[in-house]
Amino acid sequence: MTLDTTHINQQRMPFDDQAELWLFGYGSLIWKAEFPYHERHPAHICGWARRFWQGSHDHRGTPKAPGRVVTLVNEPDAICQGMAYRIDAETLRPLDIREKNGYLREIVTLHFTDGSHTEGLVYIATEDNAAFLGEAPLNAMAEQIASAHGPSGPNRDYLLNLATSLEGLGAEDRHVFELAERVRRCPP
Ligand code: BEZ
Repeated sequence: MTLDTTHINQQRMPFDDQAELWLFGYGSLIWKAEFPYHERHPAHICGWARRFWQGSHDHRGTPKAPGRVVTLVNEPDAICQGMAYRIDAETLRPLDIREKNGYLREIVTLHFTDGSHTEGLVYIATEDNAAFLGEAPLNAMAEQIASAHGPSGPNRDYLLNLATSLEGLGAEDRHVFELAERVRRCPP
């Protein structure tokens, strides 16, 4: 049910602590950047779609009643909008721990609103990780999110904070906005 990816992340892409790199946030990192950064800018990545298909047994749910959080899935024409952070590599250490439940760092191209682009890292939980839940009917996902709670708080807050942040960025994301609409109609 869980796969601790902390060590895999720290071994597969070792960086000098002082090296600077870009990190793309598409989930809680958009609205909960509790880490030091040099600058941040709205950005998007191509070919990836944001989906509430990753189980959360440690943050927004429990092993008995997991919540759902976002991961990215390959979709050739998709654009995923989020926030890019320029950070020191040492900042990855606590993030690797915070996002340890199945997420691995991958390299992607980040596109900024001024038309420039650069390489950066993103955390992705692929379908072969033990906490992956995959697709389900929107109503079933909404009910699960509306009722799940974990050490980091209600799963509902995670979804609604994400939806609000994406609206603030002027981002398009039918999957997130439709789920948020349904969760708002579910009893707390
Ligand atoms: C993010 O906000 O980019 C993020 C999503 C899932 C895991 C780690 C980070």
